[in-house]
Amino acid sequence: MASSVTVVSHPNIALAKYWGKSSGEGNIPAVPSLSVTLDGLATTTTVTFDASLAADELVLGGGVTQGRPLARATEMLDRVRAAARLDARARIVSVNDFPTASGLASSASGFAALALASTRAAGLAWTPEANAELARRSSASAARSLFGGFVELDGGEGSKGETRQVAPADALDLCVLVAVTSEEAKTVSSTEGMMRTSRESPYYASWLVEAPRIHLALRAALLAGDVEQLGALAERSALAMHASAMAAGVIFFSGATLAALAEVHAMRRSGVCAFATMDAGPHLKCLVSSADAAAARTRLLAVPGVLRVLQARPGEGAREVRATAAPVASGVAEVTP
Ligand code: PMV
Repeated sequence: MASSVTVVSHPNIALAKYWGKSSGEGNIPAVPSLSVTLDGLATTTTVTFDASLAADELVLGGGVTQGRPLARATEMLDRVRAAARLDARARIVSVNDFPTASGLASSASGFAALALASTRAAGLAWTPEANAELARRSSASAARSLFGGFVELDGGEGSKGETRQVAPADALDLCVLVAVTSEEAKTVSSTEGMMRTSRESPYYASWLVEAPRIHLALRAALLAGDVEQLGALAERSALAMHASAMAAGVIFFSGATLAALAEVHAMRRSGVCAFATMDAGPHLKCLVSSADAAAARTRLLAVPGVLRVLQARPGEGAREVRATAAPVASGVAEVTP
């Protein structure tokens, strides 16, 4: 019998970045990280285990997808099947309402949604922590999207890579503006970038020392409700991560990223409390208070090379929604909240 579950999840943006993997098994990060799960951008994923299927199927953004994305999904589904003692193959229908694989953390919300939808569809009543562990094995940052608000993922040699919420979504008045600078898929995956950084960067050892310090200070700023300190530390974390990567030739910035970064610095000089963070892609995320969001958005939109500016606030973790209809051929699941 076919069993179907639909889940909505959101990307998260790391404020204290994860970059690099520890040596053990299980895809455990080399450093602890702290992120904010966003509302406003969403992945909707339906998983259906169906005994009549000969192989797993993946429909991503309306198109049948094979190759590496399907292999990564099957890898997760195999873990779920083993835990549930299930043989049936699954159909996965997933849609993002933001650019896929361009450093906008689509893998984070995608694997978080797939973890929750597949364990539920397989009849496993796992805790968010157990689903986060499953998600982490596919994409470490995905573990954080299982939870809402401000979320911490442990890392470092000897760490178990556990994930937890540090503060709820309403803990800070924070607005995240995503300056989209490209609609293309990124050319270097985060895993490949991390591997090259750890092998070739003369600054990777410094990053491993600095990142846990930034993480602790940022956690303290969050718990103290100090948005300015939190923003300053988030920008510092991003620049330290990218500096270590760049020294290994791993460069995610484009001209538009740097122009947007210069604009964020100009905002600060003009008295706006705005900070920047960048991930494994050319987009820039600007952290501002909601009072400054409209003005900051207008200024980012005027930067040459910035195509669009998306606006998000801290949001909820991955959750099941009721599907009102079977996923339609376009790959868009109709869901009701
Ligand atoms: O989880 P991955 O493999 O997508 O790597 C995420 C890496 C960064 O987005 C750059 C940092 C982070 O902590 O999310």
